[in-house]
Amino acid sequence: MAKVIDGKKISQEIKEELKQKVAELKQQGKQGCLAVIQVGADPASSVYVRNKKRACEYIGIASASYELPEETTEAELLKLIGQLNRDAQITGILVQLPVPEQIDENKVIQAIDPSKDVDGFHPQNVGALVSGLPGFVSCTPAGIIQLLKRSGNTIAGKECVVIGRSNIVGKPMALLMLRENATVTVAHSKTENLPQLCSRADILIVAIGKPRFIDASYINECAVVIDVGIHRNEEGKLCGDVDYEQVMPHTEAITPVPGGVGPMTIAMLMHNCVEAMEKQ
Ligand code: GUN
Repeated sequence: MAKVIDGKKISQEIKEELKQKVAELKQQGKQGCLAVIQVGADPASSVYVRNKKRACEYIGIASASYELPEETTEAELLKLIGQLNRDAQITGILVQLPVPEQIDENKVIQAIDPSKDVDGFHPQNVGALVSGLPGFVSCTPAGIIQLLKRSGNTIAGKECVVIGRSNIVGKPMALLMLRENATVTVAHSKTENLPQLCSRADILIVAIGKPRFIDASYINECAVVIDVGIHRNEEGKLCGDVDYEQVMPHTEAITPVPGGVGPMTIAMLMHNCVEAMEKQ
């Protein structure tokens, strides 16, 4: 029976540490404010945005909300980002993705000042990660590293398979695991013999975007399974990319959905916000 890796508990530990740090920074006269921009009213995005603002409040930094209508133009959004870049009170800027189709997501990401890019999506921060230089790291993969380390799982020397090659999760995840001295394979929708490949993994990180896709045939008895997916099943219950009930009895450790990777993403966003505040 697998050990369950408790993301809720670990994220809480991190937020407590950050709360302490923010109090110290405030004593040095530093203030932080995260600008959170949401274009349109996608219900899932609204939940994420609300949770991010709550986390700011919890650790003691301010947040400024910009709720723009669905029909906002690219030029209008870029203008707002320009204003926030120049505003010394604003230490972090986050545009909740996805944006409506009239707006080019890449242009938005590139418009954010890299020193305020707490999501770690700007090419300068991505390039820093590739080159091993300091910069903001994408929150979900950074959170997975913390989950592994703080639950006592060794990364160095292990064989890691990452399923998924998105800019937000799969690619930065592979780079971070490499930085931690794992041997890394990135698998994706065109990968052949996926169950065979995955069953070699000591650490399997699943960001495939398909509900309960990974069953016991993909897993070995000694693997640590990290599930990045979040979906609602037929009964409206949350589930991940991994068939938790089936896999759980056949592996070493696993993250649940909810309560695994999800809370870590916000904790690492707060980590980045504090770093931005510190660098002021
Ligand atoms: N949409 C889904 N995940 C994320 C994230 O980590 N940051 C932002 N800004 N939007 C997202």
